[in-house]
Amino acid sequence: MRISIFPDECALSRDLANLVARSLTDDPTLVLGLPTGRTPVLLYRELTQLAAAGRADFGRATTFNLDEFLGQDPSKPGTYREFMEQHLFRHVNLDPRRIHFLNGSAADIEAECARYEAAIRAAGGIGLQILGIGSNGHVGFNEPGPTLEAHTHRVVLRPETIRANASLFDGDADRVPAEALSMGMATILQARRIVLVATGRGKADCVRQMIEGPLTTTLPASFLQVHRDVLVMLDEAAASELRSVRLRSEG
Ligand code: GLP
Repeated sequence: MRISIFPDECALSRDLANLVARSLTDDPTLVLGLPTGRTPVLLYRELTQLAAAGRADFGRATTFNLDEFLGQDPSKPGTYREFMEQHLFRHVNLDPRRIHFLNGSAADIEAECARYEAAIRAAGGIGLQILGIGSNGHVGFNEPGPTLEAHTHRVVLRPETIRANASLFDGDADRVPAEALSMGMATILQARRIVLVATGRGKADCVRQMIEGPLTTTLPASFLQVHRDVLVMLDEAAASELRSVRLRSEG
């Protein structure tokens, strides 16, 4: 894992937006895997600005989002689809036919998960997967537990994840759906390049475990250690528990 530490989340988001823009220049047909959450909001704002300035061209790119709540009408507020429309899709020149999302209100959930896996394969696989991390170490909605799922699947969300997503539902955790659909760990690990982003003190412990701890299903992000091309982008607060950072500040 390569690790880059930035003074704050603005500097980090600017750098990552430039990385995405460069990747689109190198390969205009890039297949991007995208996260939701508080962490990528600034990244999407930076990308919107780069696109407006003609420095990021999404015209031939394809996107796949990581996850979606179960049972939510995709056009209603609170879905990850709506989040992406609001923060990125509406503002850049992505072709709607190449925006891919899990449909949490599909009649046949198993078929929907299989459809998503097939669509990723048909697009040639994910070239650049951007990830956030939950404070319990989840990626996408792959929650900690005794086992992990390899492929796109249905998930029961943990209470801490429900609380963390309440802001999408006017702060009301009771309105957060109890279940979701998510790419699996293998779906994520099959991406050719992965960039994981974490900011804030609240992520410092899971970041330390992800980088310095053992591979364990109780911290799904630890499985990123087996991938050959992972860049971890952190602000100083999220990096503060790393051994190398602690040693530097002590010494
Ligand atoms: C959510 C999403 C994840 C995201 C994570 C962190 O539950 N399913 O894809 O990375 O939580 O969110 P945040 O960036 O708001 O801390």
